[in-house]
Amino acid sequence: MIDRHTVAFVSGANRGLGAQLVARLLARGAGRVYAASRTGHTEFDDARVIPVTLDITDDDSVAHAARIAADTTLLVNNAGINRQSGILAQHAMDDARAEMDVNYFGTWRMVRAFAPSLIEGKGAIINVLSILARVSLPSMGSLCASKAAGLRLTECLRAELMPHGVSVFAALPGAIDTDMSRGFDGAKLDPAATADAALDALTGELYEVYIGSMAQELAHGLALERAATQAQLLSTS
Ligand SMILES: NC(=O)c1ccc[n+]([C@@H]2O[C@H](COP(=O)([O-])OP(=O)(O)OC[C@H]3O[C@@H](n4cnc5c(N)ncnc54)[C@H](OP(=O)(O)O)[C@@H]3O)[C@@H](O)[C@H]2O)c1
Repeated sequence: MIDRHTVAFVSGANRGLGAQLVARLLARGAGRVYAASRTGHTEFDDARVIPVTLDITDDDSVAHAARIAADTTLLVNNAGINRQSGILAQHAMDDARAEMDVNYFGTWRMVRAFAPSLIEGKGAIINVLSILARVSLPSMGSLCASKAAGLRLTECLRAELMPHGVSVFAALPGAIDTDMSRGFDGAKLDPAATADAALDALTGELYEVYIGSMAQELAHGLALERAATQAQLLSTS
């Protein structure tokens, strides 16, 4: 539920999905939105928007942001990178380290820094992952691994924070029409609709939200396979 009491913090808020998350939070009546970006600038002309400078790979930057935004009740970990690198590509190890540093350790750093505020406000976290947390695309193998790590992180975090009254959600979209997927020719999700679907998680019944038909069909297929595997196991025991 988003209302005037909601104090949201969005990373990577300067463009792409992050900018739409800020826009949709404002449209839904959030009382304050910290719009964090590496430059510290925001295009939003709204008194409720507070620009914050943030690099999620930097301990000091994250600690500073958490101090400024100590009243945060909804943390949206949206910042991410995709080096579009296969496992055997020439610079694959460097790309993989960079992706893990932002997508996995960066998110981890953020939740550790914001946990005290979120616990105090009995708030919520939305981690923006990807359907590629559940399946592998060889042309971006290390990205998939970093998002899969992000999913495990989200699950562990949910278990740790739920007893403190903090809900932790994972948003798993398919391809979105942003800079990140510029080279992808297939169908892409509208960033504003994706932002809305991610925020809807707060009032839904699921902690893992698959966004768009591609992500939903893949998740359905994975669930069926799991059910079939389980059924097979039962029939032989
Ligand atoms: N686009 C897709 O097809 C797609 C699909 C599934 C999931 N996602 C996920 O959706 C999220 C948003 O991606 P997008 O599509 O909006 O991509 P985008 O347009 O490339 O935006 C990425 C954002 O992350 C920020 N960022 C990158 N590294 C950062 C760091 N170290 N510290 C702070 N901010 C950093 C960028 O800041 P700068 O402007 O300073 O670079 C930018 O604001 C990501 O987590 C992505 O993995 C995207």
